[in-house]
Amino acid sequence: MTKHYGVITLFAEMFDAIADFGVTRRGLDEKAWQLQCWNPRDFAVNAYKSIDDRPYGGGPGMVMMAEPLTAALDAAVKQQVANGVVKPKVVYVTPQAKPITDAGIRELATEDGLIFLCGRYEGIDERVIESRVDLEVSIGDYVLSGGELAAMVLIDAMVRLLPGVLGDGQSAVEDSFSPGRDGLLDHPHYTRPESWNGEAVPPVLMSGDHAKIDAWRRRQALARTFERRADLLEGKSWNKQDLKLLEEIRREQKK
Ligand code: ADE
Repeated sequence: MTKHYGVITLFAEMFDAIADFGVTRRGLDEKAWQLQCWNPRDFAVNAYKSIDDRPYGGGPGMVMMAEPLTAALDAAVKQQVANGVVKPKVVYVTPQAKPITDAGIRELATEDGLIFLCGRYEGIDERVIESRVDLEVSIGDYVLSGGELAAMVLIDAMVRLLPGVLGDGQSAVEDSFSPGRDGLLDHPHYTRPESWNGEAVPPVLMSGDHAKIDAWRRRQALARTFERRADLLEGKSWNKQDLKLLEEIRREQKK
């Protein structure tokens, strides 16, 4: 089934970045997913079409009002249900959540319908979160000027996992972090020319011996992960061969 992604945003044009380019655009063309943006301003209730107001209790900045946001959310949910999504989930993108990982992206990608709520200014009225939001997601411990880029990051990361979106030989199974790679970082890649800037391609890659090439790549993936992200190696049960390689890598990197 086509994945239905809705977005509540004041800046729908920003989403052209994923709708018009690359792999995500191809997925849209192939109906692996569809996108609909909802502008809270179209649901504003007063004559000025206000969507924000000053915070109760004082302080800097403005807060997005509950009424336009919930009216937009309710319209988005209704539309997805009409399109056949049984239970659309509302996702608030916010730095005040646990940063998502590859496993989290894979889980989110199993949902048939998601509606991303993108805040601007100092934030949104807390009662919107309490009454409408199913889950809160952060893309990392830093603050963006609004939820739009975060929602696009999540959509991009999910869409490339959908069946048929990546071409043959581009499979997401071999991506860094993926279960298909035991959560390791990717190995290095090389293409022509064979010698560039005085640097040769590692000879094993020119050998045509696929068993040897696979073994070299596995070692590189383990070594990179050990060097850059040793935390990713913890809590996994490595086979004998990997353990031997990791022991060698540990000894080498101590030198
Ligand atoms: N909105 C602002 N910063 C964010 C972040 N780091 N993750 C998700 N949404 C955000």
